[in-house]
Amino acid sequence: MKQRELVLILDFGAQYRQLIARRIREAGVYCEVKASSISAKEVQKLQPKGIVLSGGPSVVYEEDAPKLDPEILNLGIPILGICYGAQLLGHMLGGKVEKAAHREYGKKELHLEPSHALFKDLDQHTSCWMSHTYYLASPPEGFAIIAETDTCPVAGVANDSKQIYGLQFHPEVVHTPQGSQMIRNFLFELCACKADWKMESFADNAIMALKEKIGNKKVLCGLSGGVDSSVAAMLIHKAVGKQLTCIFVDHGLLRKNEGDEVEAVFAGHDFNLIRVNAQDRFYAALHGVSDPEQKRKIIGREFIHVFEAESKKLGGTDFLVQGTIYPDVIESGHGSAAVIKSHHNVGGLPDHVDFEEIIEPLRDLFKDEVREVGRVLGLPDDLVDRQPFPGPGIAIRIIGEITEDRIALVQEADHIFREELRLAGLGKEVWQYFAAFTGMKSVGVMGDERTYSHAVALRAVTSVDGMTADWARIPFPVLERVSNRIINEVPNVNRVLYDITSKPPGTIEYE
Ligand code: XMP
Repeated sequence: MKQRELVLILDFGAQYRQLIARRIREAGVYCEVKASSISAKEVQKLQPKGIVLSGGPSVVYEEDAPKLDPEILNLGIPILGICYGAQLLGHMLGGKVEKAAHREYGKKELHLEPSHALFKDLDQHTSCWMSHTYYLASPPEGFAIIAETDTCPVAGVANDSKQIYGLQFHPEVVHTPQGSQMIRNFLFELCACKADWKMESFADNAIMALKEKIGNKKVLCGLSGGVDSSVAAMLIHKAVGKQLTCIFVDHGLLRKNEGDEVEAVFAGHDFNLIRVNAQDRFYAALHGVSDPEQKRKIIGREFIHVFEAESKKLGGTDFLVQGTIYPDVIESGHGSAAVIKSHHNVGGLPDHVDFEEIIEPLRDLFKDEVREVGRVLGLPDDLVDRQPFPGPGIAIRIIGEITEDRIALVQEADHIFREELRLAGLGKEVWQYFAAFTGMKSVGVMGDERTYSHAVALRAVTSVDGMTADWARIPFPVLERVSNRIINEVPNVNRVLYDITSKPPGTIEYE
């Protein structure tokens, strides 16, 4: 197989590392994020066409500040340093890094040297996003200043003979309007990339590689109906057909009609699909439980039990499929963040299922790339564009005890909300949206009667990766329609609340 071109991003602890990677992938170039401690030898083995040094929170003068193997600068590979990356390059090569008079944060006017290849096809005067306390005050010898702002005289530097470049601002964020083009210029003008990263060829190559790996062995996949597990299953199905068996555990905590919809998608593809209707078991285990973490643990445990019992019936399997995607891989490589919630992924890894090896066919892909592969494989748009849905389902959208009445109430209200948002054309713009049961009762009046009923909360957020989120500015007429319909169509609801909490401090889900 032809070696695809690769760009490396060396991570110095940047908040934006995933964004850099996404910008490069969007330009059709495959890239990977590696720890900044990588050696020149390892880099050489990977033969990247270019290297990007990310930003990071450190100061180059600190003793424990992350360093770069200096030999990497002599490999003849073009290097672009961003923020801390640029300061580190400057510092290593004899320039001067200093503390700015004020912490610079926000949008700044930017003046570019238009003749430089990094700024090809850009306006000479544009704007950029700055976020730094230290900056490169004077560049190393042999470096030209190619960009400046009023407060940052060395916003961009270049040494064309060494092919080393640095930007003090962040080209990867949307607040640098021409930043994507700068990244493209780095890739195509300075690294001579060809853009060979296409989802059609990814799918073809992956199917071929899976065929070879699996041979005539058996594969087991936990299907949740979410995008990742569905695309992973479809890819493997295309490779080995009926050697794949999918187990879909319906825990009774899915959205309205979701179980049937998932089954219908795969029914048309000659799939070995086992649907286990396990709702009674889950409801019984959750009876009387209102603590959020307890709920999550119970659902995780029950899911594994059901999954194990079904897979045992099949006799041993050789491979187990995981729908891991690239952001999971990057996140897990970087220290341990505080546990806010114990996430449970349906389709997660059971301890006692008998298998030889795990296959993760999507571990190199970002979410938007997974969706693209799904489309290439012929999965329907409403599955491919499906919003994220948590493994524990609506159990964590019911505050307090879970009862069948409450589940039905949330499913109905949620169905109305999703339908109206879709009809208003907001389905793709809003990242995630759902209804929740607040556990609160309040007084109302309907007709001439006093009511004392439940309040439903509507939650809709915009986000890039779910790590941070903002509440969506849904037009009032849409909210009005949703509220009217919920009050009129869902029994025992007399109040609808719209949640205007961002993340942080809130989380997206309620529990
Ligand atoms: P939070 O509530 O932590 O959610 O802000 C962030 C994103 O993760 C989803 N989520 C989960 N996904 N298993 C999952 O597969 C889980 O247990 C889980 N909990 C939250 C949530 O829907 C949002 O997209």
